[in-house]
Amino acid sequence: MGTVIAVANQKGGVGKTTCTINLGGALASLGHRVLCLDLDPQANLTVGLGIDLNTVEKNIANVLIDPDLKLTSIIRPTKTKNLRRARDARAVIRRGGAVQRDRS
Ligand SMILES: Nc1ncnc2c1ncn2[C@@H]1O[C@H](COP(=O)(O)OP(=O)(O)OP(=O)(O)O)[C@@H](O)[C@H]1O
Ligand SMILES: [Mg+2]
Repeated sequence: MGTVIAVANQKGGVGKTTCTINLGGALASLGHRVLCLDLDPQANLTVGLGIDLNTVEKNIANVLIDPDLKLTSIIRPTKTKNLRRARDARAVIRRGGAVQRDRS
């Protein structure tokens, strides 16, 4: 079981996404396998990790509403070794990001 770190704050524009990207990158550089879950419909974490939104068809919202859709099916690699990400949950969870250390 990995360690889950949630980055959340009710106030907007206080650095949640920036903190998440850098925390994920730092943990990955230390050798941890990191899964960034972008739970913000703005999808800034996804874009910040270098993913072109035009290439994303399914996201966490689809995983949450479709019991047959596995989280693993929406995970995409990033250019950073050990760092992967799953795209935003549009209109399901409005704010916040999460980084999960993944040892699976
Ligand atoms: N430590 C910092 N020092 C200065 N500027 C920062 C710092 N962290 C983030 N910023 C800047 O603050 C702005 C908001 O950051 P960010 O998008 O990470 O916030 P957020 O809390 O995720 O916002 P939102 O609520 O819109 O999701 C960005 O322009 C970012 O570059
Ligand atoms: Mg943000």
